[in-house]
Amino acid sequence: MSPVAAGGAPAKAKVTTATLRGMKAAGQRITALTAYDHLFAGLLDRAGVDVILVGDSVATVVQGHDTTVPVTMDQMVYHCELVGRAARRALVVGDLPFLSYQVGIEDALRNAGRLLKEGRAEAVKLEGGAAYAATVQRLVDAGIPVMGHLGLTPQSIHQFGSYQARGQEPLEQQRIRDDAQSLQQAGAFALVLEKVPAALGATIAAELTIPVIGIGAGPKVDGQILVTHDLLGLFTAFKPRFARRYLELASLVGKAVADYCADVQNGAFPNQNESY
Ligand code: KIV
Repeated sequence: MSPVAAGGAPAKAKVTTATLRGMKAAGQRITALTAYDHLFAGLLDRAGVDVILVGDSVATVVQGHDTTVPVTMDQMVYHCELVGRAARRALVVGDLPFLSYQVGIEDALRNAGRLLKEGRAEAVKLEGGAAYAATVQRLVDAGIPVMGHLGLTPQSIHQFGSYQARGQEPLEQQRIRDDAQSLQQAGAFALVLEKVPAALGATIAAELTIPVIGIGAGPKVDGQILVTHDLLGLFTAFKPRFARRYLELASLVGKAVADYCADVQNGAFPNQNESY
């Protein structure tokens, strides 16, 4: 008999890396979103998202930095732990921040291990291709599932110089395809592909047996990921073309706060029912 969740509906099975592989094989699209705290992680999990990424985008979305570079390993462990305690069904993936895996393989292993051991993540994500294949293999050998990240890799912003789409020229397209193969061979269980032409996204998804989760990589990949604060219209500093807004939450919050201030100022809050 299948387990029953509160409310009487059958509980959905826990998502694992094997679930994601099975979804690709069955042609079922994977849903993924970011979360950085317990409240949002619970909302996403209960709404049925398959993968929750504790992204290093926390640096720009929550901490107010211009890039993802400053977020530290300790901060990522902290945010993963908040999310890890809330997620029941979704697979929780923790982002390895800048310089937590680039310095050396042993360093990468220690830091990835912290995301699982202290942060309750079930997998880690790192940016980069063939240059990190040995690192990916070492983590996988140690029992740490790894998600790759190719295309626009925001930790390299100072090398790229802009957040422009990647893979626009044949040479770079071939390099990204080769990198994707290297990551798959090294044992990565999935790949995030960011801001590349839709045709390249489709090609890479067709060439790989592991799921390719796109963000600005067109519709013909195996799943989609967005930054939740973009989807909700909560982060408005800039809006990438690929980020569809399903709500305008920043405006709603602004209006609610202005209404509250007005009610306090004119004596309408609290009323009798809100008093003791
Ligand atoms: O950090 C992040 O949120 C990400 C996604 C944009 C894929 O890496």
